[in-house]
Amino acid sequence: MSTLDTTNPIPGKTVRVTVSNLNKSYGNVAVLRDISFEVRPGEIFCLMGPSGSGKTVLLKHIAGLEKPTSGGVRIGEYDAADPETRAKVHLAVVFQAGALFNSLSVYDNLALYPREHRLGDEKGIRERVKRALSILSLEKAANRMPSELSGGMKKRVAIARALVIEPQLLLYDEPTAELDPILSATIIEIIATLREYTTVTSFVVTHDRALALSIADRVAIIMDGRIRAVGVPDDFKHATDPDITNFLNPVIDPKNPRFKQLETNHE
Ligand SMILES: Nc1ncnc2c1ncn2[C@@H]1O[C@H](COP(=O)(O)OP(=O)(O)O)[C@@H](O)[C@H]1O
Ligand SMILES: [Mg+2]
Repeated sequence: MSTLDTTNPIPGKTVRVTVSNLNKSYGNVAVLRDISFEVRPGEIFCLMGPSGSGKTVLLKHIAGLEKPTSGGVRIGEYDAADPETRAKVHLAVVFQAGALFNSLSVYDNLALYPREHRLGDEKGIRERVKRALSILSLEKAANRMPSELSGGMKKRVAIARALVIEPQLLLYDEPTAELDPILSATIIEIIATLREYTTVTSFVVTHDRALALSIADRVAIIMDGRIRAVGVPDDFKHATDPDITNFLNPVIDPKNPRFKQLETNHE
């Protein structure tokens, strides 16, 4: 099932993301360690890794929301950490929790950024918002408040809000977290299908193996702040590195449970 109306493509110029020797420490804790990789123009690039491995911190560096300790990120020819870059590249982030304003209707949530940044007059903004809503089959939700939406709809609204700026680069943080398998599949189809009719470059942070291996052009695995592998999905279906196979296909063994190996249970 696809919820996309693909008859009305969004124009745009796609971009390359280049991460070079990126290091980030908070105090003396190193969170990102010498990270280098490239996201090619128009590609869907999935970053997978365990909780706490540095995925969100890395995404924030690409979005220009965090400053590197050393090294850096370029979006096309621009430095992601330069505040001017956000004015030059159409970049949108779909955050894990959706980050919708609860006091604003769906329509006003979508119109907020274009209004604040004067991306057109009210009529032009209405057209952008309507188009984004229609792409995600959300026309009927325009006047609803976020509290009246299901979890899956909130995610779709968050993606629609990103589309309003006609993005060249879309960054998703755990887009399928907390969704049931059918809703996850819907969101995965949306991410894949958007790319087919826009020229957007997509960077998807996830620990959803199905998402990464089904729609990514390439996948990177981050562990403990380091990139452990970059490849096409097939490479990971036949991975031999025990850390990677254990992450992608953890053995479930109640006779030898992990939590008892980690520490004594004091509860
Ligand atoms: N602002 C911050 N200050 C200090 N430590 C942080 C900050 N943001 C993230 N961290 C730490 O960086 C590590 C990676 O976090 P994060 O990127 O959120 O992991 P995840 O891979 O689950 O998205 C974690 O240990 C986290 O506690
Ligand atoms: Mg995270």
